[in-house]
Amino acid sequence: MRATVLATGGAGYIGSHVAAALLAAGHQVVILDDFSNSRPEVIDRINAIGPGRAVLVRGDVRDGAILDALFGAHRIDAVIHLAGLKAVGESVEKPLLYQKVNVGGAVALFEAMLRHGVMRLVFSSSATVYGMPERMPVTEDARLGTTNPYGRTKLAIEGIIDDVAVAHRDFAAISLRYFNPVGAHASGTLGEDPRGVPNNLFPYIAQTAAGVRERVRVFGDDYPTRDGTGIRDYIHVVDLAEGHVAALEHLLRGDDVEGRNRPINLGCGKGTSVLEALAAFRRAVGTDIPFQVVARRPGDVPEVVADPGLAEQLLGWRAKRGLAQMCADHWAFQRRRMRELG
Ligand code: WQD
Repeated sequence: MRATVLATGGAGYIGSHVAAALLAAGHQVVILDDFSNSRPEVIDRINAIGPGRAVLVRGDVRDGAILDALFGAHRIDAVIHLAGLKAVGESVEKPLLYQKVNVGGAVALFEAMLRHGVMRLVFSSSATVYGMPERMPVTEDARLGTTNPYGRTKLAIEGIIDDVAVAHRDFAAISLRYFNPVGAHASGTLGEDPRGVPNNLFPYIAQTAAGVRERVRVFGDDYPTRDGTGIRDYIHVVDLAEGHVAALEHLLRGDDVEGRNRPINLGCGKGTSVLEALAAFRRAVGTDIPFQVVARRPGDVPEVVADPGLAEQLLGWRAKRGLAQMCADHWAFQRRRMRELG
């Protein structure tokens, strides 16, 4: 079935890969983005990959008038909501900004969806809603609890979607809980291009390998893990994007989805430590990558790995790309970006 999908935040790192995956699956795409954390040229790159072309609407997801105009101009069948702020550290310093943008943006979007009878939603949630999981790998019925304002906005928005699905029994949603997205599109034209100093491990390793950063700081090697460093479930961003298409198509098929918001993990089900990630990246780059073990980062947990069984069972989706490809693709994008910046 060919759908017209609104991707909010569709010019961002995850959003641009989701838009590309939607086009590749034959859907029509409308992107709403204010370019607060992305660049307009990303739209041209998505359209250069194709097939077909995404339509851009420039604006803030909190602007009801822009949303009404967008839903009035395009027959939207479903929404994939990715627009939002996502830096854990920044959320600790600016909790009200994160509430305004993330929760405020979600409420404005969901109100507009209901005004226009758009009743299918895929929401970009995060494994951060699990906090420090008691059991590994993490299943969707694990206790929820988060340790930072960013995670609290994701938890709040999942709860809002639950409530909308109860109040409107013909509304159906899936909240995708991302583990650690890394890598880049095979074309080398879409990838993670953070402004300022990267918070996350992979972009920091890539910039160190490119000589932009002096060395990778390994935040602690005294965790109760196999090599003492933090273990995470890294997932290739293209696998993640394809998981969004699988969730969308599941909702559009309409099997037993109405009146509920279903949380689903998107991860590989495999843990990688910081030192193992460094070694994998070193193999992809072919040269040493300097690093130094420093103190733990406040708020970090020792290990977070997904149980991706529900995604496979319900959506027929599983991650296909391994760590070597994540590193190779991330590195290819970083090199291309360096050439572009001169
Ligand atoms: C991974 C591992 C660090 C940087 C965060 C958000 C989460 C999601 C993904 C949005 C940890 C270690 C990191 C560095 C390091 N974002 N590390 N040196 O913290 O698992 O998840 O990003 O949804 O919500 O919390 O990702 O890449 O920051 O850290 O040693 O310079 O790498 O301690 O063990 P994290 P990360």
